[in-house]
Amino acid sequence: MTKTMKFRTTRRRFLAGGAAVAAAGFAPARFAIGARAPVKIGILLPYAGTYARLGENITAGFKLRVDEAGGKIGGRDVEYIQVDSEMKPPLAPEKTNKLVSGEKVDFIVGPVHSGVAMVMARIVRGENVVMVCPNAGAGALTGSMCAPNIFRTSFSNWQTSFPCGEVMIKDGHRNAVSMFWKYAAGIQMKDAFAESFTAAGGKVVREIGVPFPSVEFQAYLTEIAALRPDAVFMFFAGGGAAKVVKDYAAAGLKSRVPLYGPGFLTEGVLGAQGEAAEGVRTTLHYDNGLDNPANRRFRAAFKTAAGKEADVYAVQGYDAASLILHGMAAVGGDTGARNDLIRAMAGTTFDSPRGRFVLSKAHNPVQDFYLREVRGGRNVVLGIAHKALADPATGCNMV
Ligand code: PHB
Repeated sequence: MTKTMKFRTTRRRFLAGGAAVAAAGFAPARFAIGARAPVKIGILLPYAGTYARLGENITAGFKLRVDEAGGKIGGRDVEYIQVDSEMKPPLAPEKTNKLVSGEKVDFIVGPVHSGVAMVMARIVRGENVVMVCPNAGAGALTGSMCAPNIFRTSFSNWQTSFPCGEVMIKDGHRNAVSMFWKYAAGIQMKDAFAESFTAAGGKVVREIGVPFPSVEFQAYLTEIAALRPDAVFMFFAGGGAAKVVKDYAAAGLKSRVPLYGPGFLTEGVLGAQGEAAEGVRTTLHYDNGLDNPANRRFRAAFKTAAGKEADVYAVQGYDAASLILHGMAAVGGDTGARNDLIRAMAGTTFDSPRGRFVLSKAHNPVQDFYLREVRGGRNVVLGIAHKALADPATGCNMV
């Protein structure tokens, strides 16, 4: 996706004006210039490949929230600079630096992919920019690499899958196979599932890592059929999730081995999965059907703005903008008041479509995880799998 250069000339004119004033012997406060320049939002998300829809929905959710606030953040116009992450960690240093050092963005919003997130965090920690992660669940982001200027509006990988192991035990399963994309996200999720599952007496009989972003599942599904576990835990998302659930049913496994996972397995892809998804049980911090005023309003607005149904990714983007809006309102749009801005963001709480939004000391949401089951082509909430779950934030020196 190409960059949006909307307000660039406006900014240059202000900077030139400031220089002229300074040359005349009057040095305006930094805020006096910055207050009128647009807030620069760098967006680093995937816009092609298996996570394309995730990136698109996060972006649409973010922009919807800013538009609802009158198109301004902290009283200032907004300039978006969008870069396609391509879901490739090796490209992340260059892409992040381009936004942070090249464009000098005030906020960097992204990414989707945990591997990209770790690269971004390493760079951002030492820079005068605030990172808001609207998806990637890498534990380190709000764990060993936590920092005052790093925030997350989504989840940690651990949070999404620890409750799933508990649910599978409650459902009476004792032997399970896990199958996941073999990179940071999938590895952390299957470990979190195994943690609660084995602590309660379950046994993980086989862990199957699939190279990311491959969608060639057949050989692995044949192996699962031979192993005959009680249940399967899976992490796939986007295009991969759409396909694996269909392949699972086509392999004849659906009626024999119940399928579980974090909610990404069915999120935003039920239309593509059709009948194959019926009965799949997942744990997630959001569901379309949550009956609260913020969710009802959000879903209607998203549908009007984007022309499609919202999902968890859209919510996470929407909340990333809410977090920035709250922080910037508290400092009157002055990004130079960095400590106050960070303090305001950390302490903010608002009604998210998922429920009340609250951050931990490590800047990761503390939230309820719902148990959902696909019935009649949609997810139905069966209850709360784990209430007010906080990530352990292992290694974070802010907790
Ligand atoms: C991640 O890489 O952290 C990730 C990607 C897609 C998801 C969830 C987590 O749906």
